[in-house]
Amino acid sequence: MEKIDPVTEAPKIFYLLNAEDVGHCPPMIIRPATLQDLPEVKRLLDAAFAPSLYESTLVELIMTGAEIHHGWVALLDSQIAGFILYSVATNETHPIGWHLAPLAVLPEAQRQGIGSALVAHSLQSPPLKEEPVFVLGDPAYYERFGFSPFKTPTCPYDPGNEHFRALRWQETATPFTVGYTSAFQLTAQQLGLE
Ligand SMILES: CC(C)(COP(=O)(O)OP(=O)(O)OC[C@H]1O[C@@H](n2cnc3c(N)ncnc32)[C@H](O)[C@@H]1OP(=O)(O)O)[C@@H](O)C(=O)NCCC(=O)NCCS
Repeated sequence: MEKIDPVTEAPKIFYLLNAEDVGHCPPMIIRPATLQDLPEVKRLLDAAFAPSLYESTLVELIMTGAEIHHGWVALLDSQIAGFILYSVATNETHPIGWHLAPLAVLPEAQRQGIGSALVAHSLQSPPLKEEPVFVLGDPAYYERFGFSPFKTPTCPYDPGNEHFRALRWQETATPFTVGYTSAFQLTAQQLGLE
């Protein structure tokens, strides 16, 4: 396990994983993301989603904006190798849970369990712990963490909910479309990327 100084590192360290905890996962530290992490997080997102710059632009808007969000980073040898972000999911203006988006791992560090560790850790952490979480992504990836299909609400970016999954969500009888933080409503063109 990576050696850490419990005195100087204690305020920053939120969770420490070792190879025994998560399969073949390398030793890593998972801690909440801060604004100081933003430049490194943006480089990670640009590498993971290349050639798209949309995700890093979106994350910068969310992390520097006023709307509630929660992020975690995974550190490997003091380098940010993984990132996960949650923003508020709404029914009209009423918060109903969280959207998991985006999740990314440096290309050279993928398929070692870092993404899984970030998902598993953040889902158990306050304030997400016990709250509904929605994700638009590969169902096979997210279903392994307990996410499952549902009908209501529908996702504005996937109206058939084909790739939309939820965790801890109690379906409601009245159909509605789930709302996202305002940054998600900006198109690539509005973000100055086209
Ligand atoms: C998706 C991503 C975060 C997974 O992180 P990771 O650390 O590589 O994933 P893990 O090591 O925890 O899990 C690997 C498992 O997930 C599967 N997997 C990895 N990437 C996947 C993807 N994009 N879609 C579906 N499954 C994927 C692999 O098959 C692997 O399963 P296996 O080991 O049983 O074959 C990472 O591949 C990534 O950053 N991709 C580019 C950005 C992206 O597409 N993000 C998700 C959408 S927001």
